[in-house]
Amino acid sequence: MSELSSAPIGVFDSGFGGLTVARAIADLLPGEDMVYLADTARGPYGPRPLAEVREFTLQSLDWLAAQGVKALVIACNTGSSAALHDARERYPQLPIIEVVMPAARKAVSVTRGGRVGLICTAATAISGSYNDALEVSPVELVTSVCPKFVPFVEAGVISGDELMAAAEEYLEPLKEQQVDTLVLGCTHYTLLSDVISSIMGDDVALVSSADECAHATLDTLKREGLLRNDGITPRRRFFTTGDPTRFESLGRQLMGGFVQDATQIELGTVTGGSEPTR
Ligand code: DGL
Repeated sequence: MSELSSAPIGVFDSGFGGLTVARAIADLLPGEDMVYLADTARGPYGPRPLAEVREFTLQSLDWLAAQGVKALVIACNTGSSAALHDARERYPQLPIIEVVMPAARKAVSVTRGGRVGLICTAATAISGSYNDALEVSPVELVTSVCPKFVPFVEAGVISGDELMAAAEEYLEPLKEQQVDTLVLGCTHYTLLSDVISSIMGDDVALVSSADECAHATLDTLKREGLLRNDGITPRRRFFTTGDPTRFESLGRQLMGGFVQDATQIELGTVTGGSEPTR
């Protein structure tokens, strides 16, 4: 095992959604150290222009790269959509795993009739990243942008009437189009799976980027000879650009004991961040 194998995996999201990916990676690769960074002070990224999302994502990845990680996981569809190619050019020495392609691939493999729904942020929809990922497949993609979902999750709301009403509004057009598969094209939406599946019904397969990205991480580390197998108890560290106490309490509410103490870091200038208070 090389020395690099014992370095942590760096995982990034604008906020709490990427924790679903981080936990899926920890379940699949329980021996790996991890450094998680949430840019909560500047999230949500979804309503921001793609150029700004790219800038924020690259700043976050720069910080993770400086921690000596052995691989970068962009656990954010919006960040992947805006910055994947730039990130690959910027860190040629680091394997970069993202969420769009693994989810698109899974959707192609599970769809029965080829009608696939995509729910995502405005920035992801504008980037066309899923359309590009599915271009050579026979799948027909129907997209619905869900601007209220991320603010609900970031405020700790994952059930209730208001959320249900928003979900019905966003999902009804996809039901009318009779999609048989629905890609949760934002890592935050995995935390809303119960609400989403209660509206879509059992016949519609939900594809979450979390599991798919975890498998892609395993495959990549294996291929690069970077899997850790020294049996040492792994260390997981959590960093946020927002309030660390709030990150810990909401993180534990959403993800239980997976979230440990968080440390605040500073990244660039905070322009119009919208960290909700509750
Ligand atoms: N978790 C994110 C995603 O997968 C980001 C959502 C946001 O910041 O708007 O797209």
